[in-house]
Amino acid sequence: MRYDDNVSAAADGPILRCEAITKAFGGVNAVNGATFEVPRNKITALIGPNGAGKTTVVNLLSGALKIDTGKVHLGNIDITNMERYKIARLGLMRTFQLSRELSGLTVLENLLVAPKVQAGESLFNIFFRPRLLQREEKQNLERALEILQTYGLYALRDNRASDLSGGQKKLLEISRGVMASPSLFLLDEPMAGVNPALIEKIGGYILDMKAQGVTVLMIEHNLNVVERICDNVIVLAEGRTLATGKLSELRENKEVVTAYLGEIINAGPSH
Ligand SMILES: Nc1ncnc2c1ncn2[C@@H]1O[C@H](COP(=O)(O)OP(=O)(O)OP(=O)(O)O)[C@@H](O)[C@H]1O
Ligand SMILES: [Mg+2]
Repeated sequence: MRYDDNVSAAADGPILRCEAITKAFGGVNAVNGATFEVPRNKITALIGPNGAGKTTVVNLLSGALKIDTGKVHLGNIDITNMERYKIARLGLMRTFQLSRELSGLTVLENLLVAPKVQAGESLFNIFFRPRLLQREEKQNLERALEILQTYGLYALRDNRASDLSGGQKKLLEISRGVMASPSLFLLDEPMAGVNPALIEKIGGYILDMKAQGVTVLMIEHNLNVVERICDNVIVLAEGRTLATGKLSELRENKEVVTAYLGEIINAGPSH
């Protein structure tokens, strides 16, 4: 039985359901009743003004922070306040707004230590099934090199991660998540601060992920990107879900325009 059997069991429903989740830091209600669903095999954008609580939502869904109240389901499984590594094993991976590469390791090593379900985690396997581990290590290495090839980092595989440029670090961040074969991949501003050519490339990579069956929820400020690659949009404002729908529908929504889209919307997409 695979860990994510229950996640894929509800194959028709949303991959993730988030009901009225809240999180306060001291007196600040960072997330204040956010409720939304993430449809399976789609790319959904999570947008909203700075400080709306987007990153905090990703932290709550991935188990990096504890939820105060509310519920989160991944497929049929209640993952509310489940430990982070268990959520990862269920197939939910995330990237960080500020890249978190392991700077002392090489690019390749960063992928090899990325979280994944490994036979090597079991003591029984370590002592009694060394050959299984060797085979798994070899498979991991092959997979890591393949991913680095795909994401244009192969030539840099032996470089220290700390020596990468900002854009390359973004690619490494994504590659590390891909290494774990996520079924739901949460991307926190994967294109922030990168040049237009790389934005284009990363957009293509995310579309490829979708084609391969990965569901993506991505925080994104660039509405041109949202328009080009995202199927649905969730608007968060002051920790609450303000609206959900297609970007074209949201452009007609006065509340959304006032809260967030205002200045950007009038300019329209600049292709
Ligand atoms: N660890 C923390 N301790 C205290 N306050 C926090 C913490 N993390 C977030 N906050 C506060 O919670 C609110 C939401 O922050 P969050 O980072 O989730 O917003 P965001 O929507 O991701 O913003 P941005 O678009 O700037 O990345 C902000 O007021 C922020 O200052
Ligand atoms: Mg953020």
